[in-house]
Amino acid sequence: MTDTMTRITLARRPKGLPTPGDFTLETSKVPTPGADEVLIAVTHLSLDPYMRGRMDDAKSYAPSVDIGGTMTGQGVGRIITSNADGFVPGDLVIGATGWASHAVLPTDGLRKLDEALPPSTALGVLGMPGMTAWTGLREYGRPKAGQTLVIGAATGPVGAMVGQLAKAAGMRTVAVAGGPEKCRLAVETFGFDAAVDHRAYDDAASLRRALAEAAPDGVDIYWENVGGKLLEAVVPLMNVGGRVPVCGMIAWYAGVDGDGTDRLPGLWRSVLVKRLSVNGFIIFDHWDKFPDFLSEVAPKVASGEITYLEDIAKGLENAPAAFIAMLQGGNTGKQIVEL
Ligand SMILES: NC(=O)c1ccc[n+]([C@@H]2O[C@H](COP(=O)([O-])OP(=O)(O)OC[C@H]3O[C@@H](n4cnc5c(N)ncnc54)[C@H](OP(=O)(O)O)[C@@H]3O)[C@@H](O)[C@H]2O)c1
Repeated sequence: MTDTMTRITLARRPKGLPTPGDFTLETSKVPTPGADEVLIAVTHLSLDPYMRGRMDDAKSYAPSVDIGGTMTGQGVGRIITSNADGFVPGDLVIGATGWASHAVLPTDGLRKLDEALPPSTALGVLGMPGMTAWTGLREYGRPKAGQTLVIGAATGPVGAMVGQLAKAAGMRTVAVAGGPEKCRLAVETFGFDAAVDHRAYDDAASLRRALAEAAPDGVDIYWENVGGKLLEAVVPLMNVGGRVPVCGMIAWYAGVDGDGTDRLPGLWRSVLVKRLSVNGFIIFDHWDKFPDFLSEVAPKVASGEITYLEDIAKGLENAPAAFIAMLQGGNTGKQIVEL
């Protein structure tokens, strides 16, 4: 076994979009687990949009990464050494490993994985993003057959799962995705009824015209992954009684640009007059339902009824570049790093 490990730390807080210089690749000695702890060799790391927020020093629902601290994240790996009951060397587990080749962790946040499934699925379709889609759609979207759903970042792990579940519930599903290839994937791989390329429209008004054609009966669920131009385009198309699960707003994660003209008051007036339900939600509040999610969705993933895409970067040293690309749409499917 190697006695050195690598990790990616936060070198400085980014302004806007992160750059490679905001991260440092460090080498150190592999730590020794204490009582009730295990040592894990990480094989797969998840890259997620929320990590951009952890790089800021702003108050949020979760703590920031300290300067010099290991970037936070979920990883899958095999236990090398165990000082904890119930876990033995060789066990495949998921936990908060951070962006690192090895991690010493207590076992309370660890979960053993089903060896029959590809390990990376625990980070995407059968992990936090899949669970977010399943929970948010049931709790806040409340799909109804014959109605229409619109979702951005539609080929990502949240969007692809929401689209497939809504379609299975009998909805018309409209994907918003970046570029013709992702639009093709949305329809051909994930079964969306229509796809609109947000990159083809410079402003909200022209994007709205394209969405109105794709959603001729109006929009009943707008699943908010994106914010920005898409939010402005969709809200006027919403039907009375529409639902807006507010899951994320990746267009604004690296800061807000534009001409400084605030259009939100007009948009949110639509929320009022159309009596829209708008629910912000953070998946951690629903984690007790994770076993229900797995028992319903894992068999459908195994049978192919629910499909998924992964975008695998190779090597921990390439995690920063893959993360920066993901924040701009460079990923196709769930972004994973294979170590
Ligand atoms: N509330 C919660 O508990 C929770 C949990 C998980 C995820 N989330 C949120 O859910 C959203 C999707 O997450 P995910 O894990 O499925 O990630 P993801 O789809 O892999 O996210 C990256 C994608 O966002 C899209 N994007 C980036 N900038 C954009 C912009 N300016 N306008 C439109 N689209 C843009 C890009 O897709 P295109 O190239 O197609 O534009 C990019 O590929 C994120 O906002 C995330 O923060 C929330």
